Amino acid sequence: MIYPIVAYGDPVLREKARDIEKDELDLKQLAEDMFETMYSAHGVGLACPQIGRALRMFVVDGEPMDESMSDFKRVFVNPQILETHGEAWAFEEGCLSIPGIREEVNREPVIKLRYCDVDFNQHEEVFDGLRARIVQHEYDHIEGILFTDHLTNFKKRILKGKLASISKGKVDVDYNMRFPIRARN
Ligand code: NI
Repeated sequence: MIYPIVAYGDPVLREKARDIEKDELDLKQLAEDMFETMYSAHGVGLACPQIGRALRMFVVDGEPMDESMSDFKRVFVNPQILETHGEAWAFEEGCLSIPGIREEVNREPVIKLRYCDVDFNQHEEVFDGLRARIVQHEYDHIEGILFTDHLTNFKKRILKGKLASISKGKVDVDYNMRFPIRARN
């Protein structure tokens, strides 16, 4: 099932998501639906708040972005960032909840993550480069943080009008979205 993706301005994107209890829901089905939703929108990561559920879970598949990430398809349940390393580097990011905006964000190049898979087996894994970036972007979502929050005040001011338009659905997008404010015209 493809979920509508929640657009910028919806309060669910600002919630600190809660942990998922073992056996509380069908994680395999949820993960499958999230991948389907993410692929339909040509994204490389999707977090639960983006489908309107404030749960600590996200899915990633880096292959569409870069062939070197063909082995980087994962479901992260209740992830915790244990360590971050290295000097932050800038790279242009986008977000399925904020269509049409891409801006450079600084993030650390190496992270160590503890997480559960859909069977609730625990893993610890180190990610670097683009993988670490995608994980940090999605992790931000379950903390209620968006990539635009990392921009300078100057950039935020420039983007303010565009972000307000997105909340009202005044944006060109080729996938199904849910907008927090219904536009009057
Ligand atoms: Ni995003």
